[in-house]
Order: sequence, then structure tokens, then C-alpha cells
Amino acid sequence: MNFDWTDDYLLHIEPIDREHRRFLSLIKSYHNSSSTSEDLVLKDLSRYIEFHFESEERLMELEAYSKLNEHKLAHLELRKKFLSYQQQRKMGNLKKSELLYFLLSWFVQHTTEVDKDFTKEVTSKKY
Ligand SMILES: [Fe+2]
Repeated sequence: MNFDWTDDYLLHIEPIDREHRRFLSLIKSYHNSSSTSEDLVLKDLSRYIEFHFESEERLMELEAYSKLNEHKLAHLELRKKFLSYQQQRKMGNLKKSELLYFLLSWFVQHTTEVDKDFTKEVTSKKY
């Protein structure tokens, strides 16, 4: 798994790109965390996910994005899955690598496909 940023993730919307970089770096921190700091890093990551989704949705609302509801649902799905993964982890039923795989593949897929659709719509309106 590669936790480094690549420009393929760029949406060319500055605040979102900045937040996505931070999101990815938190996933990387979880990858690098020791068993004693894992809980703390996951807490930071959960908080950041809330902050980032809210901020992305606010921007989409401002731009009157046509697929806002769909997008909100995708964010909700991630929150739910992440919660259930965290519960399984607490019960000792989940390997760190499984949670990492889930987070990274979600990040890559959502950023390069779902979020990019928003960029397309916004730029086609403005130019
Ligand atoms: Fe998103």
C-alpha cells in the first residue's frame, strides 16, 4: 500500500486538496503508529473525517452541486463503515492491515472518482 500523495489526487480546488492531503497523512500516521499510539491516531482521524466531510459538503452546497445528496450518502456510508470497523477492532476481530486497506482504498476511489465529478461540474459551469 502506498500512503504518499500523488497529483492524481488533485481536484484543483485548494481547500479540498489541502484537506485531502491531511486526510491521507493521517491514514499514513495510523500505518506508522505503534500499538500505544494507535487509538489516539484513530481518534484524530475520526475527527478529521467529520471536519472534512462537513467542509466539502458546505462547499458543494454553495456551488449548488447537482449530486449533493448522493455525495452526502457516500460520506455517510464511510462514517458507518468506519464506525463498524472500529467496533470490530475494539473486539479484537480486525487486523490493522484490514482497516488500513479499507481507509486507503476508500480515499483513493472517492478522491479520484466521486470527488472529481464535483470538480467537473464546477469547472464546466465557470468556464
Ligand atoms: Fe467527498
